[in-house]
Amino acid sequence: MEKINWAIMGTGRIAHTFAQALKGLDDAELYAVGSRSSEKAKQFADEFGFEKAYDSYDELVKDKDIDIVYIATPMSAHYQNTMLCLENSLNVFCEKSAALSSSQLEKMIALAKEKQLFFMEAMWMKCRPTYLKALEWVRSGRIGKVRYVKADFCNLVKYDRSDRLFAPECGGGALLDLSVYPLTLVYDVLGVPKEIISAAHIGADGVDLSDSIMLNYDGAFASVDSGFEMPCINRAVISGDKGSIVFADWFFCCCEITLYDSEGNEIERSAIPNEINGYEYEIREAHRCLREKAPESTLVPHKSTKDVMSIMDECRRQWSMKFPGEE
Ligand SMILES: NC(=O)c1ccc[n+]([C@@H]2O[C@H](COP(=O)([O-])OP(=O)(O)OC[C@H]3O[C@@H](n4cnc5c(N)ncnc54)[C@H](OP(=O)(O)O)[C@@H]3O)[C@@H](O)[C@H]2O)c1
Repeated sequence: MEKINWAIMGTGRIAHTFAQALKGLDDAELYAVGSRSSEKAKQFADEFGFEKAYDSYDELVKDKDIDIVYIATPMSAHYQNTMLCLENSLNVFCEKSAALSSSQLEKMIALAKEKQLFFMEAMWMKCRPTYLKALEWVRSGRIGKVRYVKADFCNLVKYDRSDRLFAPECGGGALLDLSVYPLTLVYDVLGVPKEIISAAHIGADGVDLSDSIMLNYDGAFASVDSGFEMPCINRAVISGDKGSIVFADWFFCCCEITLYDSEGNEIERSAIPNEINGYEYEIREAHRCLREKAPESTLVPHKSTKDVMSIMDECRRQWSMKFPGEE
């Protein structure tokens, strides 16, 4: 099978993890890396064995042998980086959250469609077998009518103004970095909410440090807590009128889920270990789409990315939180 030539834009934390997954896949070619620094580009290329190292993103996108670009930059750069790739006729696999706002995301997807290029948010959770198994249990009625989803993603992160997480100019804050996972789970189970009630602790630099979001579905509810200010076990529970599904700790990347009946008796347990580091499934989905010339992913469709982004827009509207340059 012909290999897919991957390029990575940005050489930070997740770029390293992703490159490890690429390295473990027979049909992925570690082809090119682009960095704002020639030193970092060379170092990254040497570490993982990339063939080409470019010292700017503008140079990277001129390489016509690239099949797809993985954008691993801060949220504030996703719009500009994606548009640059698409304008240069390159397919895009963009880290979460795919944009700062729906207004940016709409333009990114519109250009991808116009140029008949592939665009997918790298929402790895939605491609993982354990997550898909949980959705299968929900959709096949194993827990009856869903009444409640509870999911948290909190980390205790030491404040550092130079870290993108705390920098408004980088699209920082817990919402786009963390809440996007539990909100995506809630959306996959219950869809677009009728009502959103949210609160955030906004820090002195203007980004949300902790969020609490309640979603009302007329007879079903969801509750999402996220933040950098407290550690938690990051579990998720989906409860219905016939039973519940409990994800193991770190629900978005866990490898085990358990099904309980309405009396709390364990009915079934599913444990599916990662083959590499858990990012292999989203890469395989992108490979499948490119090989089948699919315009978008079925596991991470544009509609899902857009609907979750709209929920996050509404939360920021409720908190009067704007990123620099936003109207
Ligand atoms: N899927 C996951 O599990 C997961 C986990 C963590 C993060 N993420 C997502 O991945 C993205 C990157 O996160 P990260 O934690 O890897 O960030 P990071 O460590 O700060 O790295 C981001 C990289 O982007 C490049 N960059 C471009 N413009 C920049 C700017 N204005 N400021 C700082 N860096 C800039 C830099 O690479 P060069 O200097 O080489 O150009 C930098 O190393 C975010 O969207 C985040 O939400 C996903």
